[in-house]
Amino acid sequence: MTKKRINPLDNDIQEIFLSHEDIVTICAKLGKRISKDYEGKTPLLIGLLRGCVPFLAELIKHLTIHCEYDFLEVESYFGGTVSTHAVTIKRDLTSDIVGRHLIIVDDIIDTGLTLKTICKMLEDKGAASIEIATLLNKPAGRNVIGADPKYIGTEIPNAFVVGFGLDYQQKYRNLPYIGILKPHMYQKDK
Ligand code: IMP
Repeated sequence: MTKKRINPLDNDIQEIFLSHEDIVTICAKLGKRISKDYEGKTPLLIGLLRGCVPFLAELIKHLTIHCEYDFLEVESYFGGTVSTHAVTIKRDLTSDIVGRHLIIVDDIIDTGLTLKTICKMLEDKGAASIEIATLLNKPAGRNVIGADPKYIGTEIPNAFVVGFGLDYQQKYRNLPYIGILKPHMYQKDK
């Protein structure tokens, strides 16, 4: 009999918000919707590094249409727990987006500032259409109009979560689930 491995990182988590199974179910639903909406088209999924990686990887498994993907890395959140208000492009796309149907894939939308800036930039470069898919939506944090996601995995209350791509100071992205970090894990850095 194989012993279940204990993950020491679990000790830093106060509460599991979404289990891995919940995330797969969410991605299956989103994948079905996107496949229907983009039937006959080949959308270009644009993953926002670095948090998008697990979500994008799971989502594409549930798409039953042709798709392509590329990555964009921006910085708007400087390792703390409250969104700051500056956006800089750190790694640009390599695909030509003129006339393409884009789906921006993000882990979580908080203020929406990052996405609004990205949407405007991609629009100016000649995309045919732009929609947003996010695993988590924090409507309480929203203060920007024009960054409304069409595809939302689930809404989340105003808590700080990690796992499945979401980080605290670049850590916890590798957790297979999404959980609320024990507050003392970030309070001790203050
Ligand atoms: P926005 O511009 O405020 O919408 O910033 C969204 C970005 O903030 C996300 O892509 C995350 O990198 C980060 N973020 C917002 N809330 C959380 C959270 O609860 N955990 C981890 N990162 C978060």
